[in-house]
Amino acid sequence: MSSVEVAITGLGSYLPERTVTNDDLAQRLDTSDEWIRTRTGIRERHYAAPEEATSDLALTAARRALADAGLEPTDVDVLIVATTTPDHPIPATAPIVAARLGVECAAFDLNAACSGFVYGLKVGADLAVAGATVLLIGAETLTRYVDHDDRSIAVLFGDGAGAVVLQAEQGASLGPFDLGSDGSEVEILWMRAGGAREPFDPVLHADASSRMNMRGGDVYRHAVVRMTESSRAVLDRAGIGVEDVDLVIGHQANQRILEAVGQRLGVSEERLHLTVDRHGNTSAASIPLALDDARRSGALQAGARLLLTAFGGGLTWGSCLLTWKGTRSGGSSA
Ligand code: UT7
Repeated sequence: MSSVEVAITGLGSYLPERTVTNDDLAQRLDTSDEWIRTRTGIRERHYAAPEEATSDLALTAARRALADAGLEPTDVDVLIVATTTPDHPIPATAPIVAARLGVECAAFDLNAACSGFVYGLKVGADLAVAGATVLLIGAETLTRYVDHDDRSIAVLFGDGAGAVVLQAEQGASLGPFDLGSDGSEVEILWMRAGGAREPFDPVLHADASSRMNMRGGDVYRHAVVRMTESSRAVLDRAGIGVEDVDLVIGHQANQRILEAVGQRLGVSEERLHLTVDRHGNTSAASIPLALDDARRSGALQAGARLLLTAFGGGLTWGSCLLTWKGTRSGGSSA
């Protein structure tokens, strides 16, 4: 999986208006701002409005990315939505987004949980090399899937979306990639009911155990090991050292996980971009949201070499390198 001459020519993101602070959650759950901050780094997260679903968040991020690339929706050949929280179990969310953009291009969802955006970059890069203009969106409304009475999970997640336009461009560099999975322990991060194995039954699944569930400590340990190994794999494949990386943008699940990965790789703290404090864990949306955040903060300079790394349910993981060229309009979106 070597690097290809593909650039991110447009970038956009969207966060729902409503923010929910740790203190807000502590009013109805047996938790505290102190516990959440020290264990995760999270201070607040965004919640989708009742009338907003994943496709609504995706649509706004997509429009911003297209405007940033100076493109019309009709220029898009393939639209991919990386999500683990689709609007409906059937059909995929991507055709809904395409229709709302007013186009009938190829459109499909990609579910690799929190690693979905990095997986999507690989799929999108290969399509772009073949000549396609690809719109890749990471969008999630995880607050719809969690049990809001379960403090061990309700405090972690937020909603949001980020999108990029991928196009072949001479001199650009995306990759190498490292992608992997281990499906032997699905239950350490899953939602048991509602699929083909155990279709949703209102009587059987009235209890909270059929909602999203995570063995946090196990996921934590796997996340640190896999993100570190996967990052090393792409650095080795590229034949460069970690000192050649300007910025690490990891999946934002927990600040302690990212710092542990950074320490093992030997990345200084100022080269780790963090948004988990303000966004919480937005799964497949977290990396494109963090990319846009980094651009707004001035941390994304043209020519910067980025290391992206993610880990999530499945289990899945993925990393890649990317040289930031600057988007077509160079703009930023909120
Ligand atoms: O995005 C996909 C990947 N996901 C992740 O990477 C998440 C990985 N896991 C984590 O980030 C951490 O494991 C958590 C943040 C989920 C939990 O942190 P932890 O340091 O592993 O805590 P713990 O699960 O070991 O729980 C410690 C204690 C427990 O109490 P006891 O049994 O020691 O009395 C929990 O019941 O903290 C308790 N606890 C809470 N207390 C206050 C759990 N949740 C909360 C809470 N507020 N929200």
